[in-house]
Amino acid sequence: MIEQTFVAIKPDGVERALIGKVIERFEQRGLKIVAMKMVWVDRDFSKKHYSAHINKPFYKGLEDFIVSGPVVAMVIEGVNAVEYTRKIVGVTIPSEASPGTIRGDFAHQTMQHADEHGHAVVNIIHASGNKEEAKKEIDLWFDAKEIHSYKTVHEKHTF
Ligand code: CMP
Repeated sequence: MIEQTFVAIKPDGVERALIGKVIERFEQRGLKIVAMKMVWVDRDFSKKHYSAHINKPFYKGLEDFIVSGPVVAMVIEGVNAVEYTRKIVGVTIPSEASPGTIRGDFAHQTMQHADEHGHAVVNIIHASGNKEEAKKEIDLWFDAKEIHSYKTVHEKHTF
């Protein structure tokens, strides 16, 4: 089933100049980027995007982190895009992410370290956790006119 999902390269990924390497991971799997922009989010927007985490003890550190620099926001489209994108990204905590995933290849932090220092787990990228979250996040971050429809060569052979 063709789906769309939301991804954001976080300030650590942008500041470490990993934008190209991260995008390559999705493109090489044949997933299609249908929307993309660089955004410096503010605290109000952070509260909307991370509404599920607002009452968690780590929220303050998470908000400080996400507003600390620009992020690259994308909509990614493809067969089962929500699940495959999460697979490519790896699990939330970098120390537990498998090598070969974005978090497993480019980050190493533990939850314990983040919590002891009162900051967010720094993990390069955010990706929607499920289809419902993907729809909510795409609607929050993008206007319909910013999402494009075009054909890739992969579609000619696989879709
Ligand atoms: P993300 O996928 O963007 O979703 C929520 C973010 O909160 C997560 O990545 C981490 O950056 C951060 N996070 C989740 N759990 C913790 C935690 N226990 N301590 C600090 N940061 C966390």
